[in-house]
Amino acid sequence: MADRISIRKLTDKKEFSRLIDIQRVVWGHPDLDLTPVHQFCISSFMGGLVLGAFVDEELAGFVYSFPAIFHGKFCHHSHLLAVLPQFQGHGLGKKLKWAQRREVMKLGLDLVTWTFDPMQSRNANLNFHTLGGICRTYLEDFYGETPQLRLGPGIPTDRLLVEWPIRSARVQKKAQEKQEKALDLSFLPKAVEGLREEDGSYRPGPVNLKLTAPVFLAETVREVRALKERPDLIASWQSALREVFKHYFRRGYAIIDFIFGEQCYYLLKKLQDGAFPAGKTGRKK
Ligand SMILES: CC(C)(COP(=O)(O)OP(=O)(O)OC[C@H]1O[C@@H](n2cnc3c(N)ncnc32)[C@H](O)[C@@H]1OP(=O)(O)O)[C@@H](O)C(=O)NCCC(=O)NCCS
Repeated sequence: MADRISIRKLTDKKEFSRLIDIQRVVWGHPDLDLTPVHQFCISSFMGGLVLGAFVDEELAGFVYSFPAIFHGKFCHHSHLLAVLPQFQGHGLGKKLKWAQRREVMKLGLDLVTWTFDPMQSRNANLNFHTLGGICRTYLEDFYGETPQLRLGPGIPTDRLLVEWPIRSARVQKKAQEKQEKALDLSFLPKAVEGLREEDGSYRPGPVNLKLTAPVFLAETVREVRALKERPDLIASWQSALREVFKHYFRRGYAIIDFIFGEQCYYLLKKLQDGAFPAGKTGRKK
C-alpha cells in the first residue's frame, strides 16, 4: 500500500465536497455536526490547511487545521483528521500528520494543537507515542450537548488538548521514525489502575492524588467501544482520569507518552515549566 499513497493540498470545491462524505462515513454524524464545504473554502484561502491522502487516485482521508492562538502564541489548530475505515491501519493517518507538520513549519509556526477524547487509546497512542505530542490541558465537557460526540448517554464530552511542538528535537526524531526502544515501565507508580471485579468488569481502582514521583502512570481502557453497553464503566474511567489529569496538570505534570498494550497507560512527567499560570488552563465553565 505504501507506494500507492500520496498526500497533497486540497483547494478545490469538488474535493471539499468529498470531505463531507468522508466525515459521514468516519464519524456517522448527522448533517448539523459536519464541517461544511464553505468552511474548508474560506479556511484554505485564509491560512488554513486541508491535506488529502490519496490511495492511487482515490481520496482516502484528510486533515484540516486553521490558524489559532494558544496562550498568546500563534499556532495551527488541527480540527479534523479522518481516514476511511477500509484504508485505516496502513499509515495514512501518520503521513497526513507529518505532512501537516511540514506545511505548518513552512508558515513559520512551531506549534500545532488539537483535542481528542482521552478514552480513545489508539488516538492517544498516535498523539503521544507516535507523533511526540504532550498535554497539560484538560477540557471538561468541552463540546457540551452534542450527542454524537458523547461516548454514551449523559457522558460529558471531556477532551485533552494536545500540544505538538513540531520543531522540538523529540518530534524531529519521531518524524525520522526513530522510535525509542519500548521499555517495561509497569514498575512505575500509578495514579489509577484497573481492578477486575467478580462479574468480570474492569473498573478503575481508587485514585491516588498524593504521588510526588517525577514520572508515573495512569491506566486507561484499551478499547472504549467494547464498553458501549456499559456506560457506567465508561463514566467511572472517565471521571477517574479527569480527577488525575486535572490534579496533576495543576502541579506541573504533563502527559508525555502513551503505552499501548494489553493494558494501556498514560505516562505523566513533571516538567520544569509544566503548569500554565493559574486561571489559564482552559475555558471557563
Ligand atoms: C485516527 C485515524 C485518522 C488514524 O489513521 P490510520 O491511517 O488508521 O493510522 P495509521 O495507520 O497511520 O497509524 C497511526 C498511529 O495510530 C496508532 N494506531 C493506529 N491503529 C492502531 C491500533 N490498532 N492499535 C494501537 N495503535 C494504533 C498508532 O500510534 C499508529 O502509529 P504506529 O503505526 O507507528 O504504531 C483513523 O483511525 C480514523 O480516521 N479514526 C476515526 C476518526 C478519529 O478518531 N480521528 C482522530 C481524532 S483525534
